[in-house]
Amino acid sequence: MAEAAELSIGSSLDLHRRYTLVELRGRGNYGVVYKAVQKGLERNVAIKILRKGVAGDKIQHLKREGWLQGQLSHPNIVDVHDLDEETGALVLEYVDMSLHEKLQQLELAKKTFEPAQALQIIRKCLEGLAHAHDKGVVHGDLKPANILISNNLEEVKISDFGVARIFGTAEVAAEGSDTCAAPEVLRSWKERGVWSGDYSSDLFSLGIVAYVILYGKHPFLRSGMVSPRSFIMHHDYLPDELAAGEEIPARYVKLIRELLVKERSQRQLTSARQALYEISPETELDLGVKLSTSPGPSSSTASQAQIFQAAELQSMAFELNDEGSYFEAEERATEALKLDPRSAPAYHTRGFSRSRQGRLKEAILDFDKALELTPASAARPRAKILYNRAFAKMKMGDYAGSCSDIKQAQKLDLDDPKIAWLLKTVCNSHQSSGL
Ligand SMILES: Nc1ncnc2c1ncn2[C@@H]1O[C@H](COP(=O)(O)OP(=O)(O)O)[C@@H](O)[C@H]1O
Ligand SMILES: [Mg+2]
Repeated sequence: MAEAAELSIGSSLDLHRRYTLVELRGRGNYGVVYKAVQKGLERNVAIKILRKGVAGDKIQHLKREGWLQGQLSHPNIVDVHDLDEETGALVLEYVDMSLHEKLQQLELAKKTFEPAQALQIIRKCLEGLAHAHDKGVVHGDLKPANILISNNLEEVKISDFGVARIFGTAEVAAEGSDTCAAPEVLRSWKERGVWSGDYSSDLFSLGIVAYVILYGKHPFLRSGMVSPRSFIMHHDYLPDELAAGEEIPARYVKLIRELLVKERSQRQLTSARQALYEISPETELDLGVKLSTSPGPSSSTASQAQIFQAAELQSMAFELNDEGSYFEAEERATEALKLDPRSAPAYHTRGFSRSRQGRLKEAILDFDKALELTPASAARPRAKILYNRAFAKMKMGDYAGSCSDIKQAQKLDLDDPKIAWLLKTVCNSHQSSGL
């Protein structure tokens, strides 16, 4: 690798000094990946950190990526071993190379995959993707560089959940790659600056990957055209390429045709599980438990998975508040509330971010709701909510309301210096000014 490494090879990364870096393995849009050895266990791992010069707020992004990928557990998805809270560094299962690198090797040697190998790889990708979709996760950036394989081609693992999201939650304001993206994703990026896709967009991308490994070329790229983006948006693949033969069973050809339907509304396949069923109807249609499903309008009780996920979102929101990213915090907390409409901490956290954005009335409504949902026995949490509501009321000029809240808070938590300070500031000045 010609470029200087962001970390020096052989050094100990201070992830408790447990890993020795061996070499730089790859770079993507915002990550740098090293091969490392985990001391004691003497096994290879991959460590992904942010590229030099990438804004620090991307740490949240990397942590989110780790969290999301960490929720998945499947032989065809790269495992997350660890996450460094401070830097967002991800410790991942190590895999020999990317499919992109393998394709380059083959091209140099003027070779292509054997059809049987290609079909195996497609199938394994589909299995990994089906697991992600079952859990409600949209990958968003499937392409050869984000699919890892072992030297013997036995292991095939989807990686890089950098622009992944849980279907139904906020869209991601980070760009994926345009060589394999579905037209609607490219359009949303162009028009709204968000990378937005659904399960069928992942299937479209997988269609491109499948085509590339089976036929040795991109289905839409033609020489003389300007950019991959315009190929995908405006040109069709050549149907005669998609021929079945002795070695490529008709059901795979049919599958790839269905995957590559450009118009989202015309796609018959809506999730990887369904696509997998097309090529092996004998497998059971196990739809699993989603990480999130938006609760219907009448449902106010959340499943365990939703509660769990809402708690994770709430803690992300809490950290974002801590960093002063109030808008993002509000978004996360809102997502948490969609999953678990009875989460008092999510109301409390969202109230705080709204209050800091100056949206005091909405903030107070959130604090009201948080208090309503927090049991009387939880004195400290109630005191904190009351303190924040008092603060918002003070900002609105409602000194009487603020003082009343703060007095209640003090009864619940005598030791909190912030409460004592606010009591002095609000109640004393309110009394002395005769209001
Ligand atoms: N777990 C891993 N094992 C081995 N190599 C990896 C691993 N993860 C990533 N890489 C290499 O690093 C490259 C960039 O990693 P990626 O996660 O895709 O970063 P980015 O999010 O910046 O695109 C990959 O294309 C691959 O070559
Ligand atoms: Mg990548």
